[in-house]
Amino acid sequence: MYADLIDFDTTGKVSADIFHSEETYRRELSTVFARSWLFLAHESQLRAPGDFVTALMGEDPVIVSRQRDGGIRAVLNVCRHRGMRVCRQDSGNTKRFTCSFHGWTYDTAGELVKVPRETEGYHDRLDKKGWSLTPVTRVESYRGMVFGTWDPDAPALIDYLETARPALDSFIDTLGSDIELAGPMKWRIRGNWKMPAEGLGTDGYHAETTHASALQAIGGMAEPSRIFQYSSAAGHAAAMTDLGVTQRMHEKAGVGPSPHGTNDTVTVAHATVFPNFSFIGYSGPLRVWQPRGPEEMEVWGWVAVPAGLDAETRRQKLRGVTVSFSSSGVFECDDSENWSEIAAVGRGFVARSTPLNYQMGMGFDDPAGTDLPGFDVRTGHLFNDIGARGFYTRWAELMDGPELALTPSAPPPGANGRG
Ligand code: FES
Ligand code: FE
Repeated sequence: MYADLIDFDTTGKVSADIFHSEETYRRELSTVFARSWLFLAHESQLRAPGDFVTALMGEDPVIVSRQRDGGIRAVLNVCRHRGMRVCRQDSGNTKRFTCSFHGWTYDTAGELVKVPRETEGYHDRLDKKGWSLTPVTRVESYRGMVFGTWDPDAPALIDYLETARPALDSFIDTLGSDIELAGPMKWRIRGNWKMPAEGLGTDGYHAETTHASALQAIGGMAEPSRIFQYSSAAGHAAAMTDLGVTQRMHEKAGVGPSPHGTNDTVTVAHATVFPNFSFIGYSGPLRVWQPRGPEEMEVWGWVAVPAGLDAETRRQKLRGVTVSFSSSGVFECDDSENWSEIAAVGRGFVARSTPLNYQMGMGFDDPAGTDLPGFDVRTGHLFNDIGARGFYTRWAELMDGPELALTPSAPPPGANGRG
């Protein structure tokens, strides 16, 4: 039982093995990633019919595209002939995807429309309708953010996101509602995907130590008058604080001012939408921590910017974010070093068997800490592992639940329409 590997009732311990075990990782793919809503794209990337981006759902590659009827569909990016990756571009506009192995061709809805040598090889008896690309079971959007899930029984996206919406809405509203994404920038690092996912949800604690030199360079951490942390039974977690604090921090880092909100507007500082979608308020970095094995991940990073910025303002904003949060950003490099070292030292038999401490703030969670609605449990304190405890409680629930049921010959059912 994975629930036995965490204990937030008495000891506050988490098994170190969950960050290193191949068996745990395989199960995450068939439970956590196969049954959750996963971030795929932003609608601004898919404005015209035929616009597409490629994405990952766990380790499964998918193509997400705008259809002629205005809907958005997603299909598994794996050819039904021999399993080749069908689309090898990050994004573009097309009417057809042609597999580069033998030339099977699919339309943007995933229907198999052309097979080379169909008459000579298949004697015109190939049931092309039966060999479409596997559709992602459900695709829905929330305020331009496109998510997909393989689980036909998942709640509607709007309900799945219910306890993440205060953070997600704040992220979008602070940027001015109408946003578009720049990127993605992609890079691989050693480390388990759960570390940054829990970190962006809850771990304000690391900043003074991990980022000591970077903070010194920008004049230290700003003292918030208010900070709230949220935890949710759905696994989402966030830290909210005064916009003025976040703004001063990022202005010092060169991101530039925001025209939206006032200093005491409560806004998201950082958040994770369970399981692997994170963002940082005000400056606009978005991350998906793509799992690539128990001790490796691929980081996909975008920057959300207000739509319609003039080229120079946009360039300055992207540059400001890039120097702090990107593969070479000062803050992100600090963080990546921690995650990679944890992966390296945790391979030892004794290290993997030694539990880790998630006790911070246990028993001191204050449900009355803030008047903001939305999250199930909140605390008025920065130094609290409350978000991580919620994250791993949901994680264990899914890990101990059933794997997504699939039969190889029958793709998952579902409308695969636009929400
Ligand atoms: Fe795609 Fe053969 S693997 S056409
Ligand atoms: Fe950090």
